[in-house]
Amino acid sequence: MDILIKNCINRFTELYNQECIVVQSPGRINLIGEHTDYNKGFVLPAAIDKAAYIAIGKRLDDEIYLYAMDLDEYHQTTVANLQSSPGHWSAYLLGIVDQLKKRGCIPTGFNVVLSCNIPIGGGMSSSAAVECATVFALNELFNFGLERLAMVQMAQKAENEFVGVQCGIMDMFASMMGKKEHVILLDCSNMAYQYFPLHLGNYKIVLFDTTIKHSLAGGQYNLRRQQCEEGVTYLQSKYKHINSLRDATIDMIDENLLKATSAVVYNRCKYVVEEISRVQEACADLLANNLIDFGKKMYATHAGLKNLYEVSCAELDLLVDWAKNENAILGSRMMGGGFGGCTINLIEDSAIESIFKQFEAAYKLQTGLQLKMYVTLPQAGTSILHYN
Ligand code: GLA
Repeated sequence: MDILIKNCINRFTELYNQECIVVQSPGRINLIGEHTDYNKGFVLPAAIDKAAYIAIGKRLDDEIYLYAMDLDEYHQTTVANLQSSPGHWSAYLLGIVDQLKKRGCIPTGFNVVLSCNIPIGGGMSSSAAVECATVFALNELFNFGLERLAMVQMAQKAENEFVGVQCGIMDMFASMMGKKEHVILLDCSNMAYQYFPLHLGNYKIVLFDTTIKHSLAGGQYNLRRQQCEEGVTYLQSKYKHINSLRDATIDMIDENLLKATSAVVYNRCKYVVEEISRVQEACADLLANNLIDFGKKMYATHAGLKNLYEVSCAELDLLVDWAKNENAILGSRMMGGGFGGCTINLIEDSAIESIFKQFEAAYKLQTGLQLKMYVTLPQAGTSILHYN
């Protein structure tokens, strides 16, 4: 058994002196389709081999005892009166209890040990992983009979309503629904999804971590959402059938938004509409095993995120610029919400180590920071690991 899981179980037994079940829920990557989920577009994520782990056991009273093993921090509250401070890690777990209560699924108290090896703030969705692990674990423990898709939606609502980030559904969907060696094409307008086997030949998915911690709660993420909504509201006054940017075309954006709204709103909407069609074309590339064209689209996505959506940062741009000079890198772009975290790259296997060494040294020189690298493969989604 993985040492991390063993430690979780041991700590759980020490703290609470009872048996537990352990649930894991992975972080995610996203090959292409950024900031499209809350605009009802397409995304192409996959679950990864880093996860949040929750050991959990029932209590007879109403108390909730949470212990975050990596931080060595405790939090205690009750089911009846969920208490958490803004920005505190407990919100990701208690937000789920809040959702359960809203559905009439009322648990008794419970004990938890939480551990997570997804880098926090690294753009791999540690928060969604914790939320998915929590909802899955509570569903299992209390036999609420919830389907995976319902749990995905509850995890998103927990983040929207309790944590206060108006995120889309991609992260939770990927964490809960991931499949080994597959990426998921998800249509966020109706939750239809399709698994694609990922045949990368000599290439691998490599993440370079700027180690700049992003925070979606910082307000910029919610602001992007509002700017997109502003564009949609204007388009709706012209075209009856527009419900989201998914329904808009580039011509509509060009003809209307440039004159009617600010340049900022125009740029945001233009990026989103371009990105939604780029994901569809990129999927065709994947199916045709055309990694060269797929890689070009990753670069195009980065350019849009940097110049039109303005969610990149200097460190991410450096890494993408360097990637462009490497023949062994087919594509590179910032991944996730932005303002830090990782770039996702398609790199020829034999060149990965030497490219990392080169980037690591240059990155240290330019930023004073230590670059990190994760080579990753799609994994299965949320699951139970240990059942007593
Ligand atoms: C964050 C959000 C997602 C998605 C991405 C950007 O990860 O949680 O819902 O919007 O940013 O694609």
